Amino acid sequence: MDVINLSEQNSVLNHYLREIRDVNIQKDPLRFRRNIERIGEFMAIEVSKKLHYEPTEVQTPLGVAPVNVISDQLVLATILRAGMPLHHGFLNVFDRAENAFLSAYRRLNAAGELEIVAEYMAAPAIDGKTLIVADPMLATGMSMEVGYQALLKHGHPSHAHLCCAIATPQAIEAVRKELNDSPDVTLWCAAVDPILNEKKYIVPGLGDAGDLCYGVKIHLSERP
Ligand code: URA
Repeated sequence: MDVINLSEQNSVLNHYLREIRDVNIQKDPLRFRRNIERIGEFMAIEVSKKLHYEPTEVQTPLGVAPVNVISDQLVLATILRAGMPLHHGFLNVFDRAENAFLSAYRRLNAAGELEIVAEYMAAPAIDGKTLIVADPMLATGMSMEVGYQALLKHGHPSHAHLCCAIATPQAIEAVRKELNDSPDVTLWCAAVDPILNEKKYIVPGLGDAGDLCYGVKIHLSERP
């Protein structure tokens, strides 16, 4: 599994990242969602450089021009709800892609440990296609792993690009292990942050991406 951390190279991506982290700027949900979407757009262009292309010709009003176009069949997948703006960033770039949506929630198992359960899934056939999974915060890697395994029920992609805004080293290692260090997977992130706090939030991170996009939800411990 290749890991590509896009902030290892300076680019405008740093500005979008700075704004989603900034405790004051992130309070504007429209701006927060748009910045996550802009990260998706930037990342999609980077991913596009790794895809396959085939030569075609296009008729202009004055002649015929050659152009190489993407030959991969793309499926964009995301995990509700925090993944939606990142997904939309990808969809703005790959506007003809098919789409897959999954819902996953956290619950405590019989041993009192946190687990993630995938529930609703609406996805096309994935066999032989190029799968892009957008999940903005790769904290433990659990939701990405559960989501990815659920998607495999619809077929095996020829290559998977797992895309997040912020990842932790422990999540990257967990995903690598879960996927048996598969050579057909690339993990993309805009930054790697060092630690998780006791509530499994990334530090320094940005807080709760879902809440910042869509408002505060009732948390696991507060559910009736
Ligand atoms: N999900 C978030 O929204 N933030 C984190 O820091 C970790 C998981």
